[in-house]
Amino acid sequence: MPRYAYVNGAYVQHRDAAIHIEDRGYQFADGVYEVATVAGGRLIDEEPHLDRLERSLTELFIPMPMSRRALRLVMRTLISRNQVRNGMIYLQVTRGVAPRDHKFPAHVTPALVMTTRRIDFAAQEKFKKGVSVITIPDLRWARRDIKTVGLLPNCLGKQQAFEAGAFEAWQVGADGFVTEGTSSNAWIVNASGTLVTRHLSNDILHGVTRRTVLAIAREENIAFQERPFTVAEAMAASEAFVTSATSFVTPVIRIDNTAVGDGRPGPLSQRLLGWYRDYAEGLRAGA
Ligand code: PDD
Repeated sequence: MPRYAYVNGAYVQHRDAAIHIEDRGYQFADGVYEVATVAGGRLIDEEPHLDRLERSLTELFIPMPMSRRALRLVMRTLISRNQVRNGMIYLQVTRGVAPRDHKFPAHVTPALVMTTRRIDFAAQEKFKKGVSVITIPDLRWARRDIKTVGLLPNCLGKQQAFEAGAFEAWQVGADGFVTEGTSSNAWIVNASGTLVTRHLSNDILHGVTRRTVLAIAREENIAFQERPFTVAEAMAASEAFVTSATSFVTPVIRIDNTAVGDGRPGPLSQRLLGWYRDYAEGLRAGA
């Protein structure tokens, strides 16, 4: 089956999809992106993802490449052309193509590309077995709330995790507090069963999955605190997990060389994963 990508107004074969070498995303990482999950053919949390896309663009003074209505239509068309039942859609908007110059070009049209990928979420072992994380210094800039394509520190961290046999690297600020993973938000559950995840600020990406999981916790009357936690607190926690569009709620069973709790996915993490899956499958009301 041919696989399509959307590139600046056209649905093209994925293998032929290309952008100009002077795209500012390529030269300066001058662009933003979104990753949204497709489950059972439905887009999960589409509006919060589009809200965040719009916010990221606004923060960088890049106009929306098209109306929301048009974006929704293109997303749906690509998902259906690629016959994605379960997987993800990737959207990227850059400031556009212009001769290399740091300051913004005077006349430029934002470049929009979209790709999809199928993912068999049901077959993924990480949900059942849990994953390990390592801790690394947070090397990123001061506006991590903007979902830019400038992901080099994240890539270095993820590679370091991979080489250590771990799934994710938790980035730690100079103050000793965990900010977030390289592509996920970080959570712990303390001894009294309270969920803890870092509060929203410019220090972390405002995760859409984080938002949904907090809404579920509220509905289920599970206590939570939005505040920073240290690596030591995480290692002493009863449970830990990460959230993201593609990892849902993934239990963390080891941080560096320390087992979390009894070294198995924690009960609250598993319940949250179950509720999140129900939500993704449309079996639970919206956040
Ligand atoms: N990453 N923190 C960072 C640094 C991220 O890159 C992501 C998402 C998250 C979780 O956000 P959300 O719940 O909205 O997916 C937190 C995506 C999945 C990626 O880069 O592939």
